[in-house]
Amino acid sequence: MKKLTDRLTAAVSAAFEKCGYDPALGAVTVSNRMDLCQFQCNGALSGAKIYRKAPIMIAKDVAEALSGSEIFSKAEAVSPGFINLSLTDGFLASVLSEISEDENLGVPQCEKPETVVIDYGGPNVAKPLHIGHLRSAIIGESLKRTARATGRNVIGDVHFGDWGTPYGLTIAEYKVRHPDWSCFKPDFDPEKDEIPEINEAELYEIYPSASAKSKEDGEFKIMSRQTVVDLQNREPGVYALWKKIKDLSVESVKKNYERLSVDFDYWYGESDSDGYTGELIERLNEKGLLYESDGALVVDVSEEGDKVSVPPIIVKKSDGSSIYATFDLATIMQREHDFNPDRIWYLADKRQALHFVQVFRCAKKAGLVPESTELRHLAFGAMTGPDGRPYKTRDGGVMSLESLIDTVEEAAMEKLRDSEYISGDKTEAAHRIGVAALKFGDLSNQPVKDYIFDLDRFLAFDGKTGTYLLYTVTRINSILKKAGIGYDDRLAPSEIFGGGERDLALLLALSGESFEKAFADMAPSALCDSAYNIASAFSKFYRDNRILTEEDPKKRGCWLALCSLTRRILVKLLDCLAIETVENM
Ligand code: ARG
Repeated sequence: MKKLTDRLTAAVSAAFEKCGYDPALGAVTVSNRMDLCQFQCNGALSGAKIYRKAPIMIAKDVAEALSGSEIFSKAEAVSPGFINLSLTDGFLASVLSEISEDENLGVPQCEKPETVVIDYGGPNVAKPLHIGHLRSAIIGESLKRTARATGRNVIGDVHFGDWGTPYGLTIAEYKVRHPDWSCFKPDFDPEKDEIPEINEAELYEIYPSASAKSKEDGEFKIMSRQTVVDLQNREPGVYALWKKIKDLSVESVKKNYERLSVDFDYWYGESDSDGYTGELIERLNEKGLLYESDGALVVDVSEEGDKVSVPPIIVKKSDGSSIYATFDLATIMQREHDFNPDRIWYLADKRQALHFVQVFRCAKKAGLVPESTELRHLAFGAMTGPDGRPYKTRDGGVMSLESLIDTVEEAAMEKLRDSEYISGDKTEAAHRIGVAALKFGDLSNQPVKDYIFDLDRFLAFDGKTGTYLLYTVTRINSILKKAGIGYDDRLAPSEIFGGGERDLALLLALSGESFEKAFADMAPSALCDSAYNIASAFSKFYRDNRILTEEDPKKRGCWLALCSLTRRILVKLLDCLAIETVENM
């Protein structure tokens, strides 16, 4: 389906042309004064200079040409030259029935097929997920679903941190603690020798202590550096233990992501780009970009006009090992080879901004991707405590993602404790409500901004919260069930009777545009705004009308159809935020 504002623009452009003006002046936007009109066109103001005519004269000509149109109930020229527009109820109703029949429920589809790789999640082997990983996972999942909803071919890749310094440290520490393990023996044979079982508790405790130790113990530091080199050279014992560690980490990370309805098409890690490292170095060399600095191999990525200095990017350390930036460059080659993407998007917090500037510049300089490929980093802010500092546990430690999810689920359960609307076990509902509250509380902010984790507010039944949205859906569920209407029935009101109903209908007609906006701005908050505005308009409509007991069958039918379409659109918006609804609450 075409965007509603594009259709209106076409109609207004035709009117400009009819009056002898340039049709390009006919751009229509949603009004920022809904109390005055639904849409507006400011083209007459720009036309004034071209035609040396008062803008109001042009606006009047165009408004006149639009009078009697089937689309606009109002086209009014107002000083100094705005054209205020509102839709006829008939046209609005016809848009709603098109949306209802449309397989994409009115979400405009991207015209040229394109492939987008979204790199999000970014967990690390041997380290538990903590709240710093929350935003990457949930914003990424939402953008992936949104991009898909707009008809794009989207690939989600978790990009596990699994091949750098931390794994040298971890494995070196295992060696110190368990020197007798077969994998540390020079004659280790992966075919025959077993690796002892490792457990999660020790794994998660080992990295922080190894990391602390390497800061004090020079010998250990050297040993762990050598272990990274051994790992990257796939020395059999080290590699076999690494594999075990990785499997355990992936399993544990998956459990957390599942609770957040976050899933990936590829569970690739830095190590999967290893096959491209040799070719990367060759390419950089051929292009004359690589030079030595303190024994390391680096590429200069500074550009004239840089306001802050952009240091050279290190692609090989002096000991020959690859690092974070190497993996990102090699991964770009792998993605180009496997997916030929039009865009690669990265979700990592804003402290990594410089890293991505370096990587993107190097990739373009070396021609690892065509000039036209979009490489973009969504640098998001932090979730903070009430003091504005990164959110911490009560004792000041970093909170694991698992505890955070437990906390929101427990709080949701507390709220549900007295609800009579859920018969039987409330665990699933508490899970969905808790996670919805957490996600909506996050996604409704502009990603770049920090926001405060305020669970009471997130879980409130009123206001702009996930809980309010789920609650609105349950209200519609109950109406539809009483009326015997299936959730997937394709209904739309054939008539609009006025007031609050018209406001709701207009928001539904515009809902599709928020998907494109969320995609273009890399900001799921556009979906949150649309969902919240629809839910508020629905609540007003519901409060003002007795839907089920309405005596006029035509009115009742139209109202029920409006409820049904509202539900379908809300559920779709929520689905693109990866929020699952509940039947009752
Ligand atoms: N594992 C990284 C970290 O914990 C995030 C990875 C982001 N993605 C990337 N392609 N570099 O900081």
